[in-house]
Amino acid sequence: MNVRVNGKSRHYRTVTFDADKNALMLIEQRLLPHQFKIVGTRNFHETAAAIKDMIVRGAGAIGATAAYGLAQGARAFHGNDLRKFAKHIDTVYQTLKAARPTAVDPVNAMNDVRRHMSRGETVEEQQALALASAEEFANEDVAHCRAIGEHGSKLVRNGMRVLTHCNAGWLAFVDIGSATAPIYAAHAAGKKFHVFCDETRPRCQGATLTAWELAQEGVSHQVISDNAAGHLMQRGEIDMVIVGSDRTLGRTGEVANKIGTYTKAVLAKRHGIPFYVAIPLSTIDWNLRKGRDIPIEERSETEILGAWGIDSSSKIRNPKSRYVRIANPTSGARNPGFDVTPAELITGIITPAGIFKPQDLWKHRGKLGA
Ligand code: MRU
Repeated sequence: MNVRVNGKSRHYRTVTFDADKNALMLIEQRLLPHQFKIVGTRNFHETAAAIKDMIVRGAGAIGATAAYGLAQGARAFHGNDLRKFAKHIDTVYQTLKAARPTAVDPVNAMNDVRRHMSRGETVEEQQALALASAEEFANEDVAHCRAIGEHGSKLVRNGMRVLTHCNAGWLAFVDIGSATAPIYAAHAAGKKFHVFCDETRPRCQGATLTAWELAQEGVSHQVISDNAAGHLMQRGEIDMVIVGSDRTLGRTGEVANKIGTYTKAVLAKRHGIPFYVAIPLSTIDWNLRKGRDIPIEERSETEILGAWGIDSSSKIRNPKSRYVRIANPTSGARNPGFDVTPAELITGIITPAGIFKPQDLWKHRGKLGA
């Protein structure tokens, strides 16, 4: 995506790899929309920490980060002993996998990288294959998002009001985004429509990241509170919902996504509003048999009990984000990061291979990379 920084527009990817420095370069998403900054991670421990601490977040972006992180860890190994190398790779894999549990993209991405690596006969060959395969994953992520845009833009008609939740945009992938791909493609085709961004408490990825992206792209939008969608739906002010997913079950069509997605799907069903989920193939989990088995990340209670932001005294060029306590000082909180939406509430899954009923993913698994 093109970003205007200090008056100049430049194309960026959310995640890139500097092979000379064996470092990942990441957009520091915790500072957006107030500051645009690229940070580097110098080893796989720092890369895992960047995923865990949400410097980089969003299913596709952490998938690519994990793939590059595995390559980074592989390339840091010294020696020729393939057995020691395999053990080291296992440590790197487990460290990156543990960083965030709900999204399946990191696991699918790293499994891909390992499959490619196994074709190498020496440590050096496997190291080279690891990086080539991580690059391939990142490029494929972009290609998949572009194809989602081509299929999904047909759903966006002139005059529509589209609701999205959290950030399944460019920042949640390597480029373009999944839920935003139809929006960007329709906008590029000259269609006129409006997007409502759920603010998406507790971390507010909708109010900060999606709203920032849409502003960069010049798409008409407004941020709404998480509780406003039902009211707008009841008044006929929302025509379609498009969200992303962190893990979609290929066997059942159940969709894990940011907490609050299920609520929006129930509301959409109640009001007869189409509810779409946009995903690249790396978001499909072909193994799990039921949504109840999806690991749901429980996050820190500080996210619920307070909020981050800048106040009017912050300098524009160097804004300092502050945490303010909102809740009663003696109260604790519960903070599940994701929920699971059942297939019957979902109108269609927009994939790079076309739009499918969630219940039909398994039937079409051949086309969907199972
Ligand atoms: O906790 P995050 O920000 O990593 O959560 C991911 C999300 O932004 C959403 O769940 C999104 O809709 C799916 S990621 C493409």
